[in-house]
Parts: sequence; C-alpha cells; structure tokens
Amino acid sequence: MSYQPTREHALNRDRADTLASFRSRFHLPPGRTRPTAIYLAGNSLGLQPTTVRALVDEELDDWARHGVAGHLDSRRPWLPYHEPLAQDTALLVGARPDEVVNMNTLTVNLHLMMVSFFRPTLERPCILIEAGAFPSDRYAVASQLAFHGLNVRDALLEVAPRPGEHCIRADDLYALLEREGHQIALVLLPGVQYRTGQAFDLARITKIARAKGCRVGFDLAHSIGNLPHALHDWGPDFACWCSYKFLNAGPGAIGGCFVHERHAHAAGLPRFAGWWGHDKATRFLMGPNFKALPGAEGWQISNPPILSMAPLIASLALFREAGMQRLREKSIALTGFLEFLLENRLSNVIEIVSPHHPAERGCQLSLRLRAGVGRGKAVFDEISRHDVVCDWREPDVIRAAPVPLYNSFEDVWDFVEILGAALATR
Ligand SMILES: Cc1ncc(COP(=O)(O)O)c(C=O)c1O
Repeated sequence: MSYQPTREHALNRDRADTLASFRSRFHLPPGRTRPTAIYLAGNSLGLQPTTVRALVDEELDDWARHGVAGHLDSRRPWLPYHEPLAQDTALLVGARPDEVVNMNTLTVNLHLMMVSFFRPTLERPCILIEAGAFPSDRYAVASQLAFHGLNVRDALLEVAPRPGEHCIRADDLYALLEREGHQIALVLLPGVQYRTGQAFDLARITKIARAKGCRVGFDLAHSIGNLPHALHDWGPDFACWCSYKFLNAGPGAIGGCFVHERHAHAAGLPRFAGWWGHDKATRFLMGPNFKALPGAEGWQISNPPILSMAPLIASLALFREAGMQRLREKSIALTGFLEFLLENRLSNVIEIVSPHHPAERGCQLSLRLRAGVGRGKAVFDEISRHDVVCDWREPDVIRAAPVPLYNSFEDVWDFVEILGAALATR
C-alpha cells in the first residue's frame, strides 16, 4: 500500500524541525482568510526580519544625533560600514572576505564586472548566456556588446533547452563550451535559473570554461541564500547578486559582488572608478589620481547607502546563526515534501518544470498546468484569493519557493490543499 501523507504528518515534521523557531523572527504578512498568508515568494522578495526596524531606526537616530560626525561616531560608523558585512556575505558565497563587497544593485554590478571582465578580441568576441536569461541580464549583455561595437547576432551565444524541454541539459552546455569556447570571451550564467529553478554546476562550468580560456561570471540572484557556494575554490572571475530575494534585505536592497582573489591586485584591469574604490589611506587627501583598493572593494564607486545596508546586517546575522548547510538540509526536505505531495495528489493536472534531482535545483518548484487542464493564470488568481503568495511568470509558470528560514511543512501542506481545491473548481 502506498504511503498517504496527512496534515498531521506535516505538523510532526515541523515539531521535529530544529530551525522552526526562525519563522518567528520574520514578519509574515497577514492573510484575508487566515491569520497569516502562505508566503512562498521568497525567491522574489524575502520577508522582513523582525530586527530590521530597530537597526534602521538606530541609523536614523545616529544621523539625527551626530549629523556628519556619524561617519565616524555612530554606533556602526558609516565610513567603514560595509566592511563587517563582508564576513557574513563571504560565508554565503564561499569566498574570502576581501573577495566580496556589498554595493549598488545587481544589473549595475553586472555592468561594472563586464567593464573589467568582458574584453572581446577579434578571435574571441562572444558572450555565452542561457536562452531564457532574465531580461535585465540580457539587456545588460546586449548593451555591453553594442558598447564594444559588436552585435547580438554575431557575438551572443545562447544555450537553450532542447525542443519540448524546460531545463538545459548540462551535457549540452558542456559540449557547447568545448565546441565554441575558443571564441567565447565571457560565460555569464545563473546559479539558479529564475523561471525553472534549475541549478547549475558552477564548479564544472568554471573548470571547462577556464580551460578554454574564457572569463566566467555568475548571476547568483536566485542561488545566494538558497544554495551553498564555494566561489573561491570554484574559481569564476566574478559573481553578482541581489539581496532582496533569499537574503531578505528589503525591496531594492543593496546588491553584492564577488571578484576572485587572483584579480585582487590587478591594477591594470580596466574598470569604472569612483572614490570609494580608491585607496583608503589617501582617499581624503582628495588627489587627482585613482589608486584601486585591493580586492572586491576596489570596484566600489560611491559611498554606500547606509539605510539600505542596515537590513542586510539583520538578515545576515540570521543566516550566520542558522548556518547555510542546515538551511540547505531543511530546504531539500521541504521542497522534497512539496514535490511528493504534488506528485501524489495532483500529478494528473500539474507538471513540475523544475529538475527532479535535489542537486539540480534550489528551494523553488516551477509548476505548469498540463495541456487541456485550463488556464494557469486563473488558477494562480484563485490561490492568491486564498492567501497563497507565490508568483506567476509569463507565459504559464507558477513559481512556489518554500524557504527554510521561515516556511513550514504546514505551509507546504496548506498550499497543496488550496491548489488542489482551485484545480477542482476550475
Ligand atoms: C536573475 C536576475 N537578474 C537580474 C535581476 C535584476 O535585478 P536588479 O533590479 O537588482 O538589477 C533580477 C531581479 O529579479 C534577477 O532575478
């Protein structure tokens, strides 16, 4: 007899969950039909840690009390404000603290990194991305090509899923790198694909691409705080990410950047410079000549937005406390439970687009209605009316991301119940 899960089973798993208490350290949005919404949209905007408001208030107080002197005299002096954050950020991407910096926003950082690491030549003019890349990444890449006098038709290579498939086959990507690597100046791929939730083997990609002489950069928007990384050991040239998704640092929060140690002292690399990337010892001598700081800090341009960074302090402290390995273990269990329930109860109507193997995905599952079942958007609207917060990606994908820091097995159970009811009344 096959195992039939029950709601009690989900509650038992929550009771056994050693990370369950972290849920109370976030503000869960209230629901209309239930006390709190079933929030499965941490892949889009993470929830607010309860400590954020106090931290932001402290900065406002220090500004009120100290004015400009707050740069040195506030509780967390603004001048070196970003420095302590590098420790916790480095843990999340598997880097040394001087290989990371929190600055700007994601697309801006992609541009800054491409200024340094996309150096096309006649023999090697191309950028490789994935065909379904997030539009902002594609726009950034296309505009960088144009900036170098190249065009998308000749110099943009795209790796795509096979016809009729959703995810990219790793072997197709590796074969393309082997075949075309000699003409690729930059490989720019995501840690996790935003629409399908597919996770890429960044170590393997880096190894193959670097052996072919390509520069390698990663967009970790959907993988930071979702999967563990070991960027230093894997060896890409750079990586960029945002902090408003799994890092819970708030809407439009400051982004981050990794530059591998081997470039730490590469003063000859072209870069767009600003005073915050200049040597700290001489920055305030206000001289005319730029001297880059060693490490990722040397790519900073402006002094950092303190009010945007304060929430990140709160959030990174939670990651440090919980530990990325433990979070990942819970994440595999939570998403596995979601997959199990969907396959057990709704497989005749729902197709899971995300890879089946846990090593090939993060927490997100992307779902589609099977052909002939009805309109996915109508089902999405119906579950939204019942306080499920997940998101819809055109043309036909519902993304649901149980986040181990604040989601429970009960959330997953309730989500599948509500989805099942919506499908039954479609
Ligand atoms: C994969 C990816 N790249 C780029 C962006 C754009 O980020 P930003 O608006 O911070 O530049 C996003 C935003 O969701 C994203 O998911």
